[in-house]
Amino acid sequence: MTKILMVCLGNICRSPLAEGILKSKLPSNSFLVDSAGTANYHVDSPPDKRSIITARSHGLEISHLRGRQFNSDDFEVFDLIYTMDNSNYQNVIRQARKEEDKLKVKLILNEVYPGKDLDVPDPYYSGDQGFENVYQMLNEACEIISNKLTS
Ligand code: 4NP
Repeated sequence: MTKILMVCLGNICRSPLAEGILKSKLPSNSFLVDSAGTANYHVDSPPDKRSIITARSHGLEISHLRGRQFNSDDFEVFDLIYTMDNSNYQNVIRQARKEEDKLKVKLILNEVYPGKDLDVPDPYYSGDQGFENVYQMLNEACEIISNKLTS
């Protein structure tokens, strides 16, 4: 079982979308996909309504997901940790217990634009179009990730 964790700040906008998208592209018998936030603001909350609606418009259901906070035990469980932006990346790296942990952490858009260190913009304070834009970015990245992991 390969275990993949998607990480953003709140775990209600970007990472639940990323979780739903990547899950839909990988066989569930050999891949586990989860998400978490670096902050604890939205622990036990469902995803933001706008993420739920955007996911539904692409045939994905994410309303059952609940927010949780990233913690250093996640390094024990997960093989790959994709962070949505540079701030999440630094936050997760800071919690690494050993060098091997750091190697698991990647910026998700580097899958699409290698070495550019681009952020998936936080859509929390933007309108609905921000969420569709995030969906498109994540879909492109997750397509590449799933192709890599299954080839
Ligand atoms: P996310 O977006 O990190 O993509 O889930 C956010 C959601 C909530 C907050 C910040 C970012 N917040 O400050 O409450």
